[in-house]
Amino acid sequence: MPFEDAQWVWLNGKIIPWKDATVHVSAHALHYGSGVFEGMRCYETSEGPAVFRLGSHLERFFASAAAHDLRIGYTRKELAEAVSEVIRRNGFRSCYLRPICYVGSGVLSVHPKTSPIEVAVLAWPAETQFGREALQRGVRVTVSPWVRFHSSMMPTTAKACGQYLNSVLAAREAACRGFDEAVLLDTNGHISEGSGENLFLVRGGRLLTNDERDSILLGITRDSVIRIARDRGYPVAIHTLQVDDLLAADEVFFTGTAAEVTPIREVDGKAIGSGARGPVTAEIQEAFFAAATGRDGRYRSWLHHVAPATRTSGTRKASRKRSPR
Ligand SMILES: Cc1ncc(COP(=O)(O)O)c(C=O)c1O
Repeated sequence: MPFEDAQWVWLNGKIIPWKDATVHVSAHALHYGSGVFEGMRCYETSEGPAVFRLGSHLERFFASAAAHDLRIGYTRKELAEAVSEVIRRNGFRSCYLRPICYVGSGVLSVHPKTSPIEVAVLAWPAETQFGREALQRGVRVTVSPWVRFHSSMMPTTAKACGQYLNSVLAAREAACRGFDEAVLLDTNGHISEGSGENLFLVRGGRLLTNDERDSILLGITRDSVIRIARDRGYPVAIHTLQVDDLLAADEVFFTGTAAEVTPIREVDGKAIGSGARGPVTAEIQEAFFAAATGRDGRYRSWLHHVAPATRTSGTRKASRKRSPR
């Protein structure tokens, strides 16, 4: 069970036991997906746990809420403190974090009217999305028959709960056909993204990726990788990508908080490059982990260190399991 080590949740301003953090069956978000969320990671560093790009994730959280007219009743500072408190109280050295803001129980008309807005922060230890072996071997993907929704249908740059049914359908369909993950096209037939990851191609020593014009979520890992690649002297071009570009690439990889930097070794049975993690992907992957775990001082400003527990912050468990890496 992924949640077995998670004991405390921050809910509406209070730390409460995980088992008590429940939602009523009449909650608007349960019926209509009316909520927004974030996914972030806390990495173990030599100076203790640190949340990777917390400021950027909170920025996107507030932007997603604004796109759906949800008022988060807490400041960024309060939520940053909530995130730190959840990590401390659970005693995690590293973990995945999930802030969520959703419409609770009030009315069940489609318009939520004055239903309450609830805010929670969950955390649990989580291995890299496709498993550690996939970081080296790469994953096998398929181009999905499901199309990524267009910004005229829903705000594509917001990370909203209900819109993930599009991703859930694509991920399940890909798994049914024996693939690790789906790549969705947009309504114009261009490459969009994975069910929960952005995509990079490597061709002739250049990195290529798309942007919000192709209905992607603007990933924070994507942004970090663009910066890291440019710092290492790789040109990064940002434009629309076709399926042909994907199939002809020397290397392809996913980026995302859950997937981190995961190579793609095969698309619909066709090997990408040599059919294994390529050298540029390996270099970017290593540089990303060095940044996220504080080994590369150039990216220090991306880390939000979690201050140690004070006497009032309670139940820290020094012996909690380490999560991988
Ligand atoms: C649909 C989708 N695209 C891309 C990403 C990657 O975004 P990030 O790197 O901010 O985690 C995610 C994950 O949040 C996602 O759900």
